[in-house]
Amino acid sequence: MDTYLSTETEIPWRRAVLSVDQFSRSDIAELFMLADTLAAMPQKPLAGRTLANLFYEASTRTSSSFFAAMTRLGGTVIPINEVHYSSVSKGETLEDTVRTLECYTDAIVLRHYDNDAAERAVRVCEVPIINAGNGTGEHPTQALLDLYTIAKERRTIDGLTVTMMGDLKHGRTVHSLTKLLRMYDARLRFVSPPELRMPAEYLRDGDEQYDDLDAVIEDSDVLYVTRVQRERMQGGDKAPAFDFDYALTRDDMDRARDDMVLMHPLPRVGEIPTELDSDPRSAYFRQMKYGLYVRMGILAAVLGSI
Ligand code: CP
Repeated sequence: MDTYLSTETEIPWRRAVLSVDQFSRSDIAELFMLADTLAAMPQKPLAGRTLANLFYEASTRTSSSFFAAMTRLGGTVIPINEVHYSSVSKGETLEDTVRTLECYTDAIVLRHYDNDAAERAVRVCEVPIINAGNGTGEHPTQALLDLYTIAKERRTIDGLTVTMMGDLKHGRTVHSLTKLLRMYDARLRFVSPPELRMPAEYLRDGDEQYDDLDAVIEDSDVLYVTRVQRERMQGGDKAPAFDFDYALTRDDMDRARDDMVLMHPLPRVGEIPTELDSDPRSAYFRQMKYGLYVRMGILAAVLGSI
């Protein structure tokens, strides 16, 4: 299903964060400055405000970082991280669930397995919806924190060569990040097995697609690795394996630039061995910390306190 082709993207991001399409470069610059400010100077502008974390799919980073961001800003959180223990298990619709939560909260962070879930929610809900991942569609707040990470680690985004490797078909983080990078003078390269290529809607003339990393590791400024999302494939765990060796090696890192930034939205399931964690170019744990600040910025802006 196509994502965000409707007029919902006309909604300002401070009203609801549905897609990276809602952001201009100046919006992003403003958000990043806000994230910098909130990271450096603890404030409680959201005291008395409440956030719902409504997750229909598993999450560690997104759910806990929104929780941490909200509480650091003085607010409280209603966590519904396991919808099976909510009235969803009795057959309650997404629409009724968000209309219920809007009675108690000032914003709803929503992760859902359907691509149109965030749009459906925003149509019936008075409080801001923040899309925390919609099926194989987008993960806008992840892409914003990814961009912030690149900006922090490299001090620029323009002029960089960014290589994305992994399951580019199902990976919503790479879909959103690709769209964001189009706003900058970045060169994009995509590495995946043929079955997991970046969908055509995200490709542009001049994009380079590769079957393996060999040809591109040496001049990548950023290498963004993602896992294979078997849960989104027909057959799930029993889906056929791909003839593609994802695991990054020490040899790959030896060939990479000294200032390359290695990123991963996590969780990883073997694409980056732990022996590479101590490499100063491995930024995936710093990436999570940056995510806390960006999500603090998003919450402060969406809840209208700053
Ligand atoms: N990167 C990310 O979305 O992680 P979680 O699935 O743990 O939230």
